[in-house]
Amino acid sequence: MVEGKAAIGTKAVWAGEKEVLVHHSTQVPVMVGVAYTYEDVDEWYEVAIGKRPGHIYGRNTNPTVQAFEDKVKGLEGAEAATSFSTGMAAISNSLYTFLRPGDRVVSIKDTYGGTNKIFTEFLPQINVETTLVATGDHDAMEQEIAKGCKIVYLETPTNPTIKITDIERMVQAARAVGAIVMVDNTFATPINQHPISLGADLVVHSATKFLGGHADALGGVVCGRKELVEQVYHYREINGASLDPWSAYLLLRGMKTLKLRVKQQEKSAMAIAEFLQTEELVESVFYPGLAAHPHHDIAKKQMDGFGGMLSFSLKGGMEAAKILLPALQYAHRAANLGAVETTYGPARTTSHVECTAEERKAMGIPDGLIRISAGIEDTEDLVEDLKQAFDVLS
Ligand SMILES: Cc1ncc(COP(=O)(O)O)c(C=O)c1O
Repeated sequence: MVEGKAAIGTKAVWAGEKEVLVHHSTQVPVMVGVAYTYEDVDEWYEVAIGKRPGHIYGRNTNPTVQAFEDKVKGLEGAEAATSFSTGMAAISNSLYTFLRPGDRVVSIKDTYGGTNKIFTEFLPQINVETTLVATGDHDAMEQEIAKGCKIVYLETPTNPTIKITDIERMVQAARAVGAIVMVDNTFATPINQHPISLGADLVVHSATKFLGGHADALGGVVCGRKELVEQVYHYREINGASLDPWSAYLLLRGMKTLKLRVKQQEKSAMAIAEFLQTEELVESVFYPGLAAHPHHDIAKKQMDGFGGMLSFSLKGGMEAAKILLPALQYAHRAANLGAVETTYGPARTTSHVECTAEERKAMGIPDGLIRISAGIEDTEDLVEDLKQAFDVLS
């Protein structure tokens, strides 16, 4: 393990790898074996019951997967981490680990569409009450939390409206009623935001996004307090949404460049946001780095940078988006984000495709909202590309 005092970029390169290296290799091996063999039956038993370190069966643990978990643990400053086949598996398994019929969750209205579906569709089916407050209305959040709840679930910045919630303030309210605070840190990444140091109990990631960074592996991870993560691990080892070792390797490799990527991505996101502000065909721009963003001060306080995600809406709505998006040269028009390539996508086709137009409206998502995930291309090229696409539109 890398010393706790190392800076975040150093941890991204070194954390979690040493214990898994074999044959003097400098790189973590992809261990594809499903099971582990023991000549000594007593040793096998002791590993199986957790008395000795080691591996038994791939659904439970795997050395490559463990290296990935340990790197996330190091980056987030967590006591423990456990991984999943996708980000949604990390989120749903963590919620189902702790929630029982009769419990209550307080969250925000515009979490990622899949998460929102868990709150509005699946949890009510098992008699768990979910109260979703307008994102950014901290007073209302505090009032709802004070009524009592098992989990306070936050996502900040949010997908796709890039709203910010004050984590420390919500942690204080949650502590007063003994609630667990979970934070989806996918958009901010551990380069820019450390929910655990702000008091959160659990942090979740869609590792598919910035952690992996190359849009070639799905994965999810939850980390935080050991006592809680162990319960989530137990739920996952039985229910089975384990991370595949090949994906773990790709995610691990991607994470080594996390800091370099995120810093370039946020430089471009800021430049794009500033350009969009000047463009007369644009209705609104959502980026927490802009002084005009309603939560700019909170973002400045709790983040080390404003990240690579932004969104905007066009005065011409979806019809204008249908002209603008095909005119872009350096952009995937795709449902993913956080990759090295710049990616554009309307919320109604990507993050909130599961929701009806009315549901999106209720969440404060304009119909023609377009989300941008800035890639690592040269900033000037991305701004120029957008300028020429606006020329086509006008
Ligand atoms: C903020 C956020 N959390 C969770 C998820 C779900 O992740 P996955 O697609 O890996 O299941 C997404 C997916 O876009 C997301 O944007």
